[in-house]
Formats: sequence, structure tokens, C-alpha cells
Amino acid sequence: APASDLAGLRVAVSTGGTREPIDPVRFLGNRSSGKQGVAVALAAADRGAYVHLVAAHVDDGVLHEALHHPRIAVERALTAVEMDAAMRAVSDESDVVVMAAAVADFSVPEVSDVKIRKEDGTFALDLVENPDILIGLVEERRPGQTIVGFAAETAADDGELRERGIRKRSRKGVDLLVVNRVGWQEGFEASENAVLFVDATDDVAGQASGTKRAVADALWDAVLRLR
Ligand code: C5P
Repeated sequence: APASDLAGLRVAVSTGGTREPIDPVRFLGNRSSGKQGVAVALAAADRGAYVHLVAAHVDDGVLHEALHHPRIAVERALTAVEMDAAMRAVSDESDVVVMAAAVADFSVPEVSDVKIRKEDGTFALDLVENPDILIGLVEERRPGQTIVGFAAETAADDGELRERGIRKRSRKGVDLLVVNRVGWQEGFEASENAVLFVDATDDVAGQASGTKRAVADALWDAVLRLR
């Protein structure tokens, strides 16, 4: 039987990649599968937490187990703006917030109601920057709340990955940053992952590798050590 060391904890987790519409048939998206965030939600719920899972684009198969878990409520938020609203709303009643979603950094300010045609020969998109949801949540953090971010980084070696993680942890102001290396072959869509945990001591507080579920359990162990 799974441990119940998170019993009673109220947790909000975001996952998946947002999709920013361009016109009725196109969007700006990213390669996030949502698997790591779903694993974070399942691990918490199996250890006794109540989980509010905010899912951007995630395949139905990836979400299936979470949709049927008695301690997980799933909400959809398909764009950065929708996810910002959903996470702000749920964070008020959450002891721990984990932003595992891959949020698009930019969106199209004027979404076309008709399919944009290629006749013109050239095509330029004006983009506006999306809100940084994580920074907003940290600014409005409630007492005792633990906030966890993710950082997918391309890095030449472990040293660069570590430095990037430490810088990003402090820029975002989160209690814990889960840093993983990504590339054309690594990180996305895979069922395994390898991460570093960076905390507010601005040092690597640990690392984990294996299945995304194993990484998720290590994340909750790290959160428990901080609380
Ligand atoms: O800056 P970067 O996108 O690498 O930061 C990643 C972390 O910030 C993730 O936890 C992601 O969910 C979060 N994020 C966010 N809002 C954005 C962009 C990223 O909350 N607009």
C-alpha cells in the first residue's frame, strides 16, 4: 500500500503544453506531453493528498488514470491566459502548488476568425508576451504555501544545467525548482526523466532519475523536507 505521508495536503498541479490559437485551425504549441505533471499529481494523490490538476494539452490516454482517481479533480486550461486564471483561483486553497505545465511564452493578440491564407506569399505573426504564471503565484503566495517550478533547459553539460537551474530558481522565487535537460532526443514524450532539485539555498538539493513516477515521488520527498 502506498505511504500516506501527504494525507490531507491540498495540492495544485499544472501540466501539459498550452496551445495559443492563431486562427480557427492553427496554434502555437510545444512538445510537452504532460506525463511528468500527471505523474506528480498521481504520486501526490496516492500518498493521500487532494489534488487539483489543471491540464493544458494532454492526450486522453496520459490523463486517463488521473481522471478516475478519487482524490484528483481535473480542470482544463488550454491557453496561458486560461491557465493563469485557473492556477490563481486554486492556489488560494492549496498548500503546495506545482507548475509543471509548459506555458507558451507568447501568444497572438488578435486571433483571426477566418483561416489565414497563404496567397500573400509572406506571413508574419505579431506576438505578445504571456503572463509568467509562476512569478504571479509567488507574488501572491499565502502563508505556509510551498511553490514548485519546473525548468526544461538545453545545456552542454551538467555544470551549465546546474548554473541555469540556480539562476532560474532565484529569478522565479520558487521554493523548489525541478530542472531537467531537454533536447531533440531527451525529455519530451519519454516515459523516463532525470532531474536536479534546486532549492532556496541556491544549491542542488538532490537529484532523481528513472520513471516519471519515480521522479514525481522524489519531488514529493523534497517538498516534505522543505515543509
Ligand atoms: O522561464 P521558464 O519558462 O523556463 O520557466 C519554467 C517554469 O515557469 C515552469 O514551472 C512553467 O510552468 C512556469 N511558467 C509559467 N508561466 C509562463 C512560463 C513558464 O508559469 N508564462
